[in-house]
Amino acid sequence: MLSQVEIKDWLQTRLSEKRFSHSLGVAQEAERLAKHYGADPQKAYLAGLVHDCAKEVSKDETMVQLSAFDIVPDVAAAAAPWLLHGTLGACVAKQEFGIEDEEILDAIRYHTTGKADMSLLARIIFIADFIEPGRTYPDVAMLREMTYQNLEEAMLFGIDYTIELLVKKKMIIHPDTIHCRNDLMIELTAKGKQGIMHEN
Ligand SMILES: [Fe+2]
Ligand SMILES: [Fe+2]
Repeated sequence: MLSQVEIKDWLQTRLSEKRFSHSLGVAQEAERLAKHYGADPQKAYLAGLVHDCAKEVSKDETMVQLSAFDIVPDVAAAAAPWLLHGTLGACVAKQEFGIEDEEILDAIRYHTTGKADMSLLARIIFIADFIEPGRTYPDVAMLREMTYQNLEEAMLFGIDYTIELLVKKKMIIHPDTIHCRNDLMIELTAKGKQGIMHEN
């Protein structure tokens, strides 16, 4: 496996300055969240660092590279190829960086869409992407606070925000995102944190 310094060098030469600094921010935030929630801080830092390693690969090149890894995108992802940078990122992390840890690879793979049954590490990377120190949108301070109080509530907020935006922009919503939201709703309801509305 490449050392952390080697991975940082790789990212710095292939990502824009802004994306590289976002990657460092997600790594730092994920490490902090892992310490807070009892996940492995080193794994969280590494997953955060590499999560966007394939983000600046063009759409056509993404398709070419994925097919070289024998991956056929599902219908929704093929129609919304920006969602595939997690899928390709996990392949790159394994092939280029020698990361074999399936939990880390899964966290990278699903950091954009989310999915059902996410591990704690995957949840941490998903939300760290929203709240890393470089993020500046209006609700970020509130979401940061929420994240350290209740990870699942914060994820649901992030997902709802994303879904609303996708609907407004008439963009594809990946089914994994819906599965992730349903999972969170069911979990939160079981903990008495959220009331799922039932049709009478
Ligand atoms: Fe991403
Ligand atoms: Fe990101």
